[in-house]
Amino acid sequence: MSEHESTSAVDTSRTSYGDEGFSRFLRRAFLASRGFDDVDLDRPVVGIAVTTSDYNTCHRDMPALLQAVRRGVLEAGGLPMEFPTISLGEILTSPTTMLFRNLMAMDTEEMIRALPMDAAVLLGGCDKTVPAQLMAAASSDKPVLLEVVGPMMTGSWRGERLGACTDCRRLWANHRGGDLDTAEITEARSELVSTAGTCAVMGTASTMACLTETLGMMLPGGATPGASTGARLRHGVATGRRAVELARAHSPKPREILTREAFENAIKVLAAVGGSTNALIHLIAVARRAGVDLVLSDFDTIGTKIPLLVDCKPSGSNYLEDFHRAGGIPVLLKELERHLDTSAVGVAGRSLAELIEDVRPHPGTRPVVRTLDDPLGAPGALAVLTGSLAPAGAVIKTSAATPDLLQHTGPAFVVDAGQDIAAILDDPDLDLTPQHVLVLRMAGPIAGGMPEAGALPIPAKLARQGVRDMVRVSDGRMSGTSYGTVVLHCDPEAAAGGPLAAVRNGDLIRLNVPARRIDLLVDEAEVARRLAEFTPAPLPARGWRRLYAETVLPASEGADLSFL
Ligand code: FES
Repeated sequence: MSEHESTSAVDTSRTSYGDEGFSRFLRRAFLASRGFDDVDLDRPVVGIAVTTSDYNTCHRDMPALLQAVRRGVLEAGGLPMEFPTISLGEILTSPTTMLFRNLMAMDTEEMIRALPMDAAVLLGGCDKTVPAQLMAAASSDKPVLLEVVGPMMTGSWRGERLGACTDCRRLWANHRGGDLDTAEITEARSELVSTAGTCAVMGTASTMACLTETLGMMLPGGATPGASTGARLRHGVATGRRAVELARAHSPKPREILTREAFENAIKVLAAVGGSTNALIHLIAVARRAGVDLVLSDFDTIGTKIPLLVDCKPSGSNYLEDFHRAGGIPVLLKELERHLDTSAVGVAGRSLAELIEDVRPHPGTRPVVRTLDDPLGAPGALAVLTGSLAPAGAVIKTSAATPDLLQHTGPAFVVDAGQDIAAILDDPDLDLTPQHVLVLRMAGPIAGGMPEAGALPIPAKLARQGVRDMVRVSDGRMSGTSYGTVVLHCDPEAAAGGPLAAVRNGDLIRLNVPARRIDLLVDEAEVARRLAEFTPAPLPARGWRRLYAETVLPASEGADLSFL
């Protein structure tokens, strides 16, 4: 076939030189330098987005997964072409990876569009990588499959099983409370993150992996196999093979998969796994890009009919490796079958009903994946609140909260993001009680990209008295691995002049989760007077941070940039 007649991706998506024949000629000339001949270049091209980085320890074993995907592509007769994108490692990125999620989404979307490929496999894992890749896929017009590195394995310290990051937070809280000395916490540190892979609990990374599988953007069984396991590598190979089939068919496109029904299924799975509060922001952002009208209240109307079924930290006591051994997402979908739209078809090309037809629980299933008749927790693991403190909405993870605090009224103690909050809260002269409501402001999208600072530390004096939870309220987020009675994502945020900016020490705040309310018990006129005096901080001077602060949408709308 001549280059002029070719339908190969390397010939149909051309660099602009004003002479299409020359563009094709030049492209094949340069690819010849990589050892590719026309036999190679006439194969379906599968682009593989790689997010390996020394700054992303969760992706440490991605090179092996990449080789597995490449092998699958080659076995199926395709040409694998890897390309790098930004990698967002949660722990080493300042001030928060959330500030860069949309940048990664733009990077990935534009590379899928700009580089010659018939289909793409996106390799991710750590918290913001999968949402960014889903957003990119939703904006893409090529078939896309996601593949994740998989969760890490647990470690052990003094006979106790440990896994990041719920146990990191629990042990640190014990250290602050005086139960573990510096030598002990230092010794435990080396066992908390004992292998490559994403956090070992149902944090944001695993939540988003489970939702990606549910949405149909990942082959079945892909959310839970551990990093570096044979199961993970085999899933990578299968993904590579399947990518070639989609590349040949040029179908299905992500927007055909990301339907309203698929998102409703995802919301139900989110409730059943007791997943991360961050998922609400991410799912809304992906849905908006897919043209699906998903709003915050949908999570309450759809999700709160589903009880908590999966017993994993932080809502339960097990780890992701246990969930995988119990059967993972397929066995959970089977249990939820009557609540799901099983006509949904994803990248596997078969309906959900067909995919789970032969799935059966086994003797190891029930300790981790409970039944609808014998759930781990009541419906409503995630609740959407409104009220005078969050007129456009806020979120609380009730499954990880203290039941006695779900209806609570107490005086506010206010701190702002950017302060040394632990030092402030640990001041021994501070007269704080367990009844206080700790308020964190200036942690919303505009103020600083929405850091995961919402689960404020319990003041040391109270921690030493055995207090392990207090009501906390903020316009920020918290890690999916965190726990406690923490109201998050208050919208509008303080930096945008939301009511949170009007809160002063001693004001009474009332949390009433059964009524879905979070209220500031201050006279409306007084709140308006205080807000009239409020002066927002100046926006960043330049660059990405300026663009982000000027165009980011509120948390309740997904915190994507308004023009995306
Ligand atoms: Fe990467 Fe938790 S830090 S998944």
